[in-house]
Formats: sequence, structure tokens, C-alpha cells
Amino acid sequence: MPAFIMMGFEIIGTGHYVPGKPFTNHDLTRVMDTSDEWIFQRSGIRQRHFAPEGVGASDLGTEAAKRAIEMAGIAPKQIDYIVFATMTPDFIFPGPGALLGAKLGLEGVPALDIRQQCGAMIFGLQIVDALIKSGAAKTILFVGAEAHAGFMPWENWDALAGVPGHAPVTPEARERANKHRALAVLFGDGAGALLFRATDRDAGLRGLKVHTDGRSAELLYVPGGGFRTRPYWKPNMFDEQAYIPRMEGKELFKFAVTKLPECARALCEEAKVTVDQVDWFLAHQANQRINEFVRDKLKVPVEKMPMNIDRFGNTSAATIPILVDELTRAGKLKKGELNMMLALGAGLHWGCALVRW
Ligand code: ACO
Repeated sequence: MPAFIMMGFEIIGTGHYVPGKPFTNHDLTRVMDTSDEWIFQRSGIRQRHFAPEGVGASDLGTEAAKRAIEMAGIAPKQIDYIVFATMTPDFIFPGPGALLGAKLGLEGVPALDIRQQCGAMIFGLQIVDALIKSGAAKTILFVGAEAHAGFMPWENWDALAGVPGHAPVTPEARERANKHRALAVLFGDGAGALLFRATDRDAGLRGLKVHTDGRSAELLYVPGGGFRTRPYWKPNMFDEQAYIPRMEGKELFKFAVTKLPECARALCEEAKVTVDQVDWFLAHQANQRINEFVRDKLKVPVEKMPMNIDRFGNTSAATIPILVDELTRAGKLKKGELNMMLALGAGLHWGCALVRW
């Protein structure tokens, strides 16, 4: 009987892409009542990018994927599986994985769409690992991409951008946007791509925990545009702002600062490693303060949990891939390191993973 070799994985290419010029906190004050001070103190965010009209998650993801492929120096045709994570798909269906495959010339290559929102990277790692260990795939493109611009609560994008001669923002429009300002200031658009390849090197997953608790689904969800209603989109949904996610920010915050440290501790115990033995904590960037709480609870030194939320905001499924790309290109993540990824997102879905780089 042939020996069954448990293959690990390594990351051979990374890339990220954010559209256009950044929009600062100050820019947001043109369309809503807010301030740089409020946003920065509560979230650590200074700026974010927004996908222009007509640009979807599959377009952003394609740009990020091209950069990852270029870094890996492989022919795109070597990719034998695509996993695409987003909560802001181009269409209700089909998912953007198929669209991305077509844009990269990968027709025939299976594309799996996953929807674990900000928790997607951890679930994605589990899928990548399983595909590689089962022998179903050898070179997997994981893409996280988001075009949140479509749910922003203002309509006057020219005013936001400060385009000379733009139409004024009416008090009614400002009031409509204000209702969702706590949510709107947090999210930004972008894409990150990671190329995984099977390896017999001592690398890959060393442990992973994922959890879902649908009882908390309404802490962050989009009330309109679902197939519970006939038809699934009604004209009054615009007036009711039903296309904008509803978020219970405080409850989400509490959930994250409880569950993420719990998950990290349980994983370290199971994998028989101490927190000190972990080189980098690659955490989802939903809020600077959430990550500070997690760091404090786990007693992780500040320099071991890199942050980039100040420049991108919360890019949901794109966040960890963008962070990994930035750190890789800066020469910080090195082969042989033991790194932990942690994330929590709408669903609620959350988890953490230990990866030997
Ligand atoms: N600018 C100015 N003032 C604001 C803004 C704003 N953008 N937003 C809200 N306020 C005001 C409120 O109206 C309120 O005023 P009041 O006291 O006069 O009523 C006050 O600020 C406090 O508002 P809260 O909503 O209670 O603010 P809080 O301190 O809870 O902070 C925040 C809000 C930043 C959203 C925080 O709760 C948070 O970050 N939660 C976590 C959210 C999160 O992680 N979401 C992503 C999940 S991951 C995923 O899957 C996508």
C-alpha cells in the first residue's frame, strides 16, 4: 500500500489592491456629522478606500490575485482551485469566484465562494488545508475582496470627494446618513490574495479552531434584499435604508474581546504551544481597540500584533490577506515562523489558526 503523505502548505505569493485615492475621516464630514477625533479615538481609523461605481469585488480581487501570481512567479494555469471570500458580491448569484476565474483566464478551474464575512480567512485556511491534504488541489488561490461602497448611507459621492461644484448635501440626506454613521465610518474597500501551494516542507497548519453562533446573526446583518420576500427587492427598501447593514456595535465589541482571546488560548493549549512561542498575531482589523483588548488579555507585546486599520478601515474578508501581503513585502514574515491568525465576523463566525510559515 503506498504511504499516505500528509502534505502541508506554504504561501508562495501575496498581493493586495485598494481602489483609487483614500477618503479621510475629514472627507466623511462633508456627508455626515462626524469628526476625525471621534472616528480615530473609537476605531483607530484615519482613512479608507471605496470602490468606484461599476467596480465589484471580483474586479478588486483580480488585481490582488495578479500581484500574488506575479510574486509567486507561476503561470496562472498552475492554479487548480479558487476560494473567494466576500460579503459584498458583484451579484446575488453567481458568486464572484466564477467571475474572478474568468478574468484570470482560469476557465474550468473550480471556484468556491465562501461567506464568513470578517471571519473568512480562518474558514478559508481550513478549506485550503483540507483540499491540499486530500490531494484535490496543489496550488490554491485564496481571495478576500470587498466593495462595501454599495451600502454606504450617502448618495452624494461628489460631495464626499470634494469635487468642485458638487451638488449640496441636503439636510435630509445628511440626516439619513447620520443614522448609520457608527457603521459607515468603519468599513473600507479592497482585496487581498494569497497563493497557497502543497509542500513537503515542515510548513502549514498546526492547529485551527472555528466557531459559529447564528443566535447573534442580527448583531450585524443586511435586512433588505433577501429571498424571504417576494420579490426579494422592493422599492420601499431604499426609503427604509434596508440595503444598509444594521449593526449592534457595542455587543459585537464585547463578543469579539471575549471570544477571540478564548479561542487563541484554547488553540495554544491544544497545539501545546505558549503564547510566547507565537511570532506574529495576524488579527482581523475591525477596530484598533478590539485588538488592544485581545492583546492585553493574551499578554501579547504590541509589536507582535501589527495593525494597518488606520489606512484601510475594516476591509472584512480582505483584511488578513492585505495585512499578510504588506508584511511579506516588507520582509517581516519569514519561513519557519509560527504565526496565529484570528478573526471574527458577522454570522457570527470566528476562529483562529496556527500556521508554520
Ligand atoms: N461620529 C460621531 N459620533 C458618532 C458616530 C460618528 N461616526 N457614530 C456614533 N456616534 C455617536 C452616537 O450617536 C452616540 O451619541 P449619543 O451618546 O449622543 O447617543 C455616541 O457617538 C456613542 O455611540 P455608540 O454607537 O454607543 O459608540 P461606541 O462607543 O459603541 O462605538 C463603534 C461605536 C466604534 C461602532 C464600536 O461599538 C465598535 O467598533 N464596535 C465593533 C464593531 C465591529 O467590529 N464591526 C465589525 C464586525 S466584523 C464583520 O463581520 C464585518
